[in-house]
Amino acid sequence: MSKVIKGGTVVTADHSFKADVLIEGETIAAIGQNLSGDEVIDATGCYVMPGGIDPHTHPAMPFMGTTSADTNYSATRAALAGGTTTIVDFCLPDPGQSLLEALEIWDRKSVSSHCDYSYHMAITWWSEQVWREMAEVVDRGINTFKYFMAYKGALMVNDDEMYQSFLRCAEIGAMPLVHAENGDVVARLQQKYMDKGVTGPEAHAFSRPPEVEGEAANRAIMIADMAGVPVYIVHVSCEPAHEAIRRARVNGNRVYGEPLIQHLTLDDSEYLHQDWDYAARRVMSPPFRDRKHQDSLWAGLQSGSLQVVATDHCAFTTEQKQFGREDFRKIPNGTGGLEERLPVLWTRGVRTGRLTMNEFVAVTSTNIAKILNIFPRKGAIMVGADADIVVWDPEAKKTISAATQFSAIDYSVFEGVEVSGLPRLTISRGEVCFADGEMKAREGRGKFLRRPPFPAVHHALSSWKALQTPQPVERRKENMPIGV
Ligand code: URP
Ligand code: ZN
Ligand code: ZN
Ligand code: ZN
Repeated sequence: MSKVIKGGTVVTADHSFKADVLIEGETIAAIGQNLSGDEVIDATGCYVMPGGIDPHTHPAMPFMGTTSADTNYSATRAALAGGTTTIVDFCLPDPGQSLLEALEIWDRKSVSSHCDYSYHMAITWWSEQVWREMAEVVDRGINTFKYFMAYKGALMVNDDEMYQSFLRCAEIGAMPLVHAENGDVVARLQQKYMDKGVTGPEAHAFSRPPEVEGEAANRAIMIADMAGVPVYIVHVSCEPAHEAIRRARVNGNRVYGEPLIQHLTLDDSEYLHQDWDYAARRVMSPPFRDRKHQDSLWAGLQSGSLQVVATDHCAFTTEQKQFGREDFRKIPNGTGGLEERLPVLWTRGVRTGRLTMNEFVAVTSTNIAKILNIFPRKGAIMVGADADIVVWDPEAKKTISAATQFSAIDYSVFEGVEVSGLPRLTISRGEVCFADGEMKAREGRGKFLRRPPFPAVHHALSSWKALQTPQPVERRKENMPIGV
């Protein structure tokens, strides 16, 4: 049973052209003129683009005494409704827990997925066992490890653990991802505001200024350079972190930066809202920033110093947010965005002229596939690639509302935002999963996506490191002090 998408304009990260796309089974079989297939999908007036890849999501994340309310079931439905066909989740071992045991728990959690998924493995503690198991994790198709420099007393790791573990990444062809915030300083600032009686959600933002992020991003980048690994900084929210990334890249370091759709479009005035619930729903780390930081993030996407746009989708209900009623430190950190990422980026990015359509495809899909080493199976409209395709209607409009979303929570941080540009169809491995507002995907159809280790960048970095390593001076005996 083949399908042919006819009459649309194919938009890739490189160029745009009129062509039909033939799908055989789960794969793109041909791209060209006047193709025919068993079933015809009319894409007149639409763009035919690679399905979105969200490199940063937390379905059913156990965190801060609760579990994020969008499960793998609901988060993957939200993804497909928003034009995203692959998500990457974070496997989080408890301190002391085997990485492989945590992986089994995550595999059980993922069985309800409607779209393809992959994992990053978090390093939440350090031991000889973790060192050993990291190689096994890579063998199982996970090539990225995640480090939290914040969340002191919970997920946070120290510099020694990061350095040792980054060295291990270099050895086994893996890449570290870093949540960059100085957790020690954050903890002190949080205590300062609590002592002053500032207990509301605004204090969440006050206690995490851009400097804590800039400092940590710079530290992670320097540690990665010393260990000889590339590094990926998640949820880059501000100019100081972006500046550290930009500077490192100009110096030749392989550093990647991921802004979120939230930080690109929402600002810190949200925390000053009179309604406690309204403000608490927007609590995430790093917090939304002053508008001037948004300009920096957009500039990064335009110039290439930032490469991808993610969501960090980690959705808690209003009731869960209320755990922090008396103490902002207990408000579960996280916001949603899986369903909104592409439409909001299109509206605020492509429609305004900040991004071209091709840049849009690059930052929502192709760059991510390349950085995570799944290109061109994912992130490409190419013969032989998985048929993960969005038929995008640039003229379709809607006003974002929690009343109509697929996410399981009772609000949206994008409530009331008018978008123009929406998926008409989302196709995942050849199957029409979402069409004209209707979910067609079957629970459990999503497959785990293996990501092989990174031979090219690591080989280049290790060759260069070996050449640069300081060498001991071989001294002849007559040149040594007498008696040595
Ligand atoms: O506030 C956030 N970002 N919650 C999810 C966990 C994380 O730090 O990415
Ligand atoms: Zn984080
Ligand atoms: Zn994270
Ligand atoms: Zn996250």
